[in-house]
Amino acid sequence: MAKIGIFFGTDTGNTRKAAKLIAKKIGEEASKPLNVNRTTVDDMLSYDFLILGSPTLGDGELPGLTAGGETESWEEFLPDLASEDFSGKTIALYGFGDQEGYPDNFVDAMGIIYEELVDSGAEFVGFWPTEGYTFTSSRAVEDDEFVGLVLDQENQSDLHEERIDQWLEMISPAMSLHEQTA
Ligand SMILES: Cc1cc2nc3c(=O)[nH]c(=O)nc-3n(C[C@H](O)[C@H](O)[C@H](O)COP(=O)(O)O)c2cc1C
Repeated sequence: MAKIGIFFGTDTGNTRKAAKLIAKKIGEEASKPLNVNRTTVDDMLSYDFLILGSPTLGDGELPGLTAGGETESWEEFLPDLASEDFSGKTIALYGFGDQEGYPDNFVDAMGIIYEELVDSGAEFVGFWPTEGYTFTSSRAVEDDEFVGLVLDQENQSDLHEERIDQWLEMISPAMSLHEQTA
């Protein structure tokens, strides 16, 4: 079984596309990326290393029905994780947002997922510098860093591949650790 579980929410497909690219770059250790509206908590908890991706919708909201999505997504799935024990697991987050269109709520959803899981026992890796982005406020920033990789389809899609490569390099020691111990 793959050792690294990749899960995403999406409205228009950007986060899914990135999940597929990330999976391809990781190779055989990565799971087939799964939409959170087609998975279960048990599925997610069967992996020791998790890559979780989300766009921000509405005004700084998780994707899902409230934010105007056509299907359920992180908004509906995240509460199910609230009481789960993630001890021994490692989580790396990535988020999509639009820094020009939503400078006051830039990639907030990634911050919401982080806030929900930060006390779950999991270790977080893959924090990402805020340099190179222009925005006013983001719930996804902690101690001057983003809590995960940030991708901006509207304004910086030319940087996706380079950013993903750098980020995977950054989290690869933690991924290898799980490969060895699994
Ligand atoms: C209605 C709507 C609301 C959005 N709200 C935000 C927001 O609050 N903050 C942000 O950073 N990006 C926001 N975005 C930008 C999306 O996060 C961005 O388009 C993303 O690439 C969508 O990813 P997806 O294709 O996986 O759904 C919004 C986009 C739309 C269409």
